Amino acid sequence: MEEEFLGNINFRTSHQIVSQSCPSNIALIKYWGKSDTQIPANPSISYTLSHCKTNTTLEFLADEKFSVQTFLAGKEEEKFAKKIEEYFRKIQVYLPWILQGKYCIKTENTFPHSSGIASSASGFGAIAKCLMQLDQIFTDQNGEEYTLRKASFLARLGSGSACRSLYPGLVVWGHTKEVRGSSDLYAVAYPPHQIHSVFKRFHDWVLLIYEGEKSVSSSVGHALMKTNPYAERRFQEAHENLHKLTTILQEGNMPGFIKLVEHEALTLHGMMMMGDPAFILMETGTLQVINKVWEFRRNTGLPLFFTLDAGANVHLLFPHHIEDQRIKTFIEQELLTFSQCGRVVKDEISF
Ligand code: DP6
Repeated sequence: MEEEFLGNINFRTSHQIVSQSCPSNIALIKYWGKSDTQIPANPSISYTLSHCKTNTTLEFLADEKFSVQTFLAGKEEEKFAKKIEEYFRKIQVYLPWILQGKYCIKTENTFPHSSGIASSASGFGAIAKCLMQLDQIFTDQNGEEYTLRKASFLARLGSGSACRSLYPGLVVWGHTKEVRGSSDLYAVAYPPHQIHSVFKRFHDWVLLIYEGEKSVSSSVGHALMKTNPYAERRFQEAHENLHKLTTILQEGNMPGFIKLVEHEALTLHGMMMMGDPAFILMETGTLQVINKVWEFRRNTGLPLFFTLDAGANVHLLFPHHIEDQRIKTFIEQELLTFSQCGRVVKDEISF
């Protein structure tokens, strides 16, 4: 199946500059655990965000010795360049021209670096899009669908969750019988006509509880699932949750959605606590916010809920159609105080 992504070179011009932008995403059913070839242990589904993006410009000079120079927000980053070099070597089999030139890559995020918002997802998404723009120039392969799918495939080899950022709306990565065309190799858009309108416009306000470096990286976290005694059950549950979610999405079942999304977030962190060695990425503020959200929901019945990434920050989700100002007021007046620097990144989902 991977053969479809092999290609042939045809350098037409030797100097190219391409620019692409790619948003980040937040998973509702989490990817946590993978094989060494970036194959997920279970299917995942995420919302692609609207405002948190990476903008990347890639300059390519063909027929030069292979080298990569990278700039993050105007500052040269050698460590990042090494990572990209390694990545390019890894994907060479799918882009045969890739090591035949010199690169200067300039990239910047529209969201704070320390926010814990997945910059690897938007970052690898944007680079993969740039590479596919070059590939379209250098090879005879084209077609929008193929290009997008191959960009998702390449992004996955950089960072798993990045493959979902290539599509707007709700996006699935990992083979599941629930979604036709779904694959472990790339992401696909969840069919929009099977999603009730209440799930098509959401706010995602990311409360920045902690802005420092994470104590355990995602790659270490994924690896620890290999020895986690609860892993198999967890992978199976992700499939079950995806099955439940299809009905929830179709019926517009908001309480069911809230329950499932929060359960997934807590399961992700539960897995971290049940690994060997165990680790905890939530901070005191994370737990305080969760309790406050539950209390608010009990008292008002309003659909404010949370999800968590592999970090301490809390993604506060609430549907767009809610006119009631109490949710926004509550966040600003009662939750912002748990944020380390009083910061919240206001994003949204709209498709
Ligand atoms: C908790 O995609 O960052 O955000 O494939 O090793 O780069 P790598 O991991 P990464 O893992 C993301 C994990 C998660 C859940 C998710 O996005 O599904």
